[in-house]
Amino acid sequence: MSAPRIAFVLGTRPEIIKLSPLLRSCLERDIPHVVVHTGQHYSDSLDTVFFEQLELPTPCHDLGVGSGEHGEQTAAMIRGLESVLDEERPDHVVVQGDTNSALAGAIAASKRPTSLAHVEAGLRSFDREMPEEVNRVLVDHAADRCFAPTDESARLLAAEGIDGDRVVVTGNTIVDAVFEHRELAAEKSTVLTDLDLESGEFVLLTAHRAENVDDPDRFAGILEGVERFATRADREVVYPIHPRARERVEAFDLSVPEPIRLVEPLDFLDFLTLESHARLAITDSGGVQEETCILGTPCVTVRDNTERPETIDVGANRLVGIEPATIVDGAEAMADRSGSWSNPFGDGDAAARIVDALS
Ligand code: UD1
Ligand code: UDP
Repeated sequence: MSAPRIAFVLGTRPEIIKLSPLLRSCLERDIPHVVVHTGQHYSDSLDTVFFEQLELPTPCHDLGVGSGEHGEQTAAMIRGLESVLDEERPDHVVVQGDTNSALAGAIAASKRPTSLAHVEAGLRSFDREMPEEVNRVLVDHAADRCFAPTDESARLLAAEGIDGDRVVVTGNTIVDAVFEHRELAAEKSTVLTDLDLESGEFVLLTAHRAENVDDPDRFAGILEGVERFATRADREVVYPIHPRARERVEAFDLSVPEPIRLVEPLDFLDFLTLESHARLAITDSGGVQEETCILGTPCVTVRDNTERPETIDVGANRLVGIEPATIVDGAEAMADRSGSWSNPFGDGDAAARIVDALS
């Protein structure tokens, strides 16, 4: 019997990073596969830089969909994916996470004679106002195979009536990606020198989620809370700013206060280096909550909920909302915490388990 053929559908920075261990595993094991890029992210700093640094082959198909309203963007992806799936006829379509690219991959695959696998299944914020929550619920329910990172995510899938036969607990592939790259980052990255930062003395900030940066009051609240904390603690803050957030700073005419330094989005090795050496991370990113937990750096999450409660349970992360006072309190409480918690996201072999299950 010939090996099954896998189509990976991806489109954004975190999908490229979190699917990279699977792509590498397929290459090493000679498993036939194609990569389909939706084009949701297209700026070099969110896209090409990761293919180059993670040594991934150029995608076989690039749908070039670009930015747009949710419906417009997702519909264009589905249309493009239908032709690609008809041409490639994969046995499995693999999508990752909760983006519009993942949703489009799931819908296109579920209308074709191919099985659908969801990597990072079973995460829930229980906040249906977030586009990501709606996407991840729909993808999980469409999927034939749900690869859940933790027992907790498998439990959440069971609670929604998803048959246990469809679910495998694998760990999160972000652990594989971090383990594969952290030593390389320590060897190669010069970002601390380039940005004139001292290990343990700075704060790393990322905020890009629509619910935060598209709302001028919420975005301003985050900036003010971070400024107050940094001023009191006498710490500099580095903020590699996502283009969505950069556009909002300009559109809302927000002033970014003195201790916060905006820099361009970083490549993976530089970003891992900042995460490893930061005194504290302040973020609304899903991936950053996980990575800081894995690397032993305390984290404060500027959201009202998180679909990564494991990071809070082990003591690595605290949810603080977006009010300046709660950000200051949370950041002060977390900044001196030692990173001795255990990593809840697995042993770094998630990709091998997933590829085994598919082949
Ligand atoms: C998307 C995901 C989000 C994820 C994030 C990862 C959805 C609904 N959201 O959000 O869950 O956390 O990716 O980074 O799928 N832009 C550029 N260059 C690009 C891409 C976008 O400048 O390469 C700008 C455009 O102005 C665009 C805006 O960013 O309108 C938002 O892009 P979009 O892909 O819609 O969502 P993200 O905020 O990136
Ligand atoms: N990341 C990066 N450079 C940056 C910011 C983030 O390489 O300047 C990586 C980070 O290491 C993580 C991923 O991007 O693996 C997280 O993506 P993002 O925050 O855009 O999306 P989310 O995880 O919130 O969906």
